Amino acid sequence: MYLCSRMKIRALRVVTPLLTFPKPFSFVGPGASLSMCREIAAQGLERVLFITDAALLKLGIVDPLADLLQGLGLVVEVFSEIQPDPGFDVVLQGAARIKGFKPDAVIAVGGGSSIDAAKAILLCHANNCHPAKLRGLWLYALPRKRTLPFFAIPTTAGTGSEVTIVAIVSDNAAHTKIPIIDPKLVPSMMALDPKLMASLPPVITAPTGMDALTHAIEAYISTLATDETDRYTRMAITSIVRNLPIAYANGQNLEARERMAVASCFAGLAFTRAGVGYVHALSHQLGGLYHVPHGLINAIVLPHVLEFSKSHCAHRLADLARIVGVGSSATSDLDRADAFIALIRQMNQNMQIPDTVQGLSRNDFDTIIGRAFREAHGTYGVPRYLGRKQARELLEKLMPTQLG
Ligand SMILES: NC(=O)c1ccc[n+]([C@@H]2O[C@H](COP(=O)([O-])OP(=O)(O)OC[C@H]3O[C@@H](n4cnc5c(N)ncnc54)[C@H](O)[C@@H]3O)[C@@H](O)[C@H]2O)c1
Ligand SMILES: [Fe+2]
Repeated sequence: MYLCSRMKIRALRVVTPLLTFPKPFSFVGPGASLSMCREIAAQGLERVLFITDAALLKLGIVDPLADLLQGLGLVVEVFSEIQPDPGFDVVLQGAARIKGFKPDAVIAVGGGSSIDAAKAILLCHANNCHPAKLRGLWLYALPRKRTLPFFAIPTTAGTGSEVTIVAIVSDNAAHTKIPIIDPKLVPSMMALDPKLMASLPPVITAPTGMDALTHAIEAYISTLATDETDRYTRMAITSIVRNLPIAYANGQNLEARERMAVASCFAGLAFTRAGVGYVHALSHQLGGLYHVPHGLINAIVLPHVLEFSKSHCAHRLADLARIVGVGSSATSDLDRADAFIALIRQMNQNMQIPDTVQGLSRNDFDTIIGRAFREAHGTYGVPRYLGRKQARELLEKLMPTQLG
C-alpha cells in the first residue's frame, strides 16, 4: 500500500538535504520592529505598503512603524483588509493595491494570516496570475518571477511563516486551504519584537503556541528530518514546553514572548525542510470546512496522530520526552512516548483547549480523508501511513459530544 507515496518520499529524502533555502536577516528583541524599519529606510526604499489586519491596526501596532518610516521621508500606505485564513479574494485585492500604489517594498505585520496573505499577494502581483495557479511545490525548477522586496513582523508566535517557504491560502468556494510553496516567499528581513506580542490574549497565545509545537514535533518524527532540522526542533520543543505556559499565564512577560517567537522560527525552519504530517494534512481540511483556527485544530488533533504513529516513531518521541524531562521512570521507548503524549494532553487541558472539533460531521469524513491523503501522501514524511478505516476512527474521536 502507498508504494508510490513511499517512493516519492524516498526521492525527497535524497533531494531536500541538497537544497538551500534562504533565511531572513533577523532583528530580535524589544523594539526590533522599529530597528528593522530604520534599516529599510537606510536601504533607500521610498514607497512602502504595510499588509496587516484591521484588529492590529486598531490596536495601534502598525502606527509607530508607519510614523517612523514617514518621519524618515518614505511614502507609506496600509492595506488592512486581511481576515483570518485569507482567501483568494483578499489576495487579488492586495495585488490590485500594489498595482495602484506601486510600492518599492511590502512589510507584513501580523499573524500567519497577514504574512501568508502578503506572500501570496506578492507572488500573484509579480506573476500576474490568480492565487489558485500558485498551488503546490515549485521550488527552483519553474520560471516564476521574483517578488518585490518583502519584510515580515510576526505578532503571533506560532506559524513561523516569517521564515518558511510556505503560504496557506483558503479556497472558500471549495472549503479547503491550498499551500503555495516557493523559496521566493521567504522575506529578506524579519523582526521578532516581543512588545508587539504582549497584546495577544491567552485564547490566541495558546493555540498559536501549540501550532509551533506541532510544527516542531511533526518535523522531528518526519522521515525527512535531518541533523539540522533535529537541532532546530529540539530547541523549539524545549523552549515551547517551558515558555508557552508562562506566556499564556502572563502575556506581559516579554522574555517568555521573545523565547516563544524564536522557538516558533526554529520550528518553521525545521518544517520548511522536513515537512509536517497528518496533523497539518487533517487540520487544513478541518479548518477549511469549519473555520476553526489553525492552531486550535492542530492542538486537538496532535495527540491522536501521535497515538496512532507512536509504534513507528517511539524512539523519536522518547527523545522528546527526555529533553523536556518527562517519563524518567519509564522503562521502554513506548512508555516514554506515552509520557510525552500525556504532556501534550496536559498542556492542552491547562490552556483550556477543547478535545473535540465544533461542527465536525460524519458526512464530511470522506471528503476530509480524501483531501488530507492527497495533501500528505508523497509530500510529508509521515512515520506511519494511515488507512481510510484508521482515519475514520481518528476523526470519530474528534466528534463533538452529543447532548441529550
Ligand atoms: N506559512 C506558514 O508556514 C504557515 C504555517 C502554519 C500556519 N499558517 C497559516 O497561518 C494562519 C494562522 O495564523 P495565526 O495562527 O498566526 O493567526 P492569525 O494571523 O489568523 O491571527 C489570529 C487572530 O489574532 C489576532 N492577533 C494577531 N496578533 C495579535 C496581537 N499581537 N495582539 C492581539 N491580537 C493579535 C489577529 O488580529 C487575528 O484576529 C492560518 O491561515 C494558517 O493556515 C501558515
Ligand atoms: Fe501550522
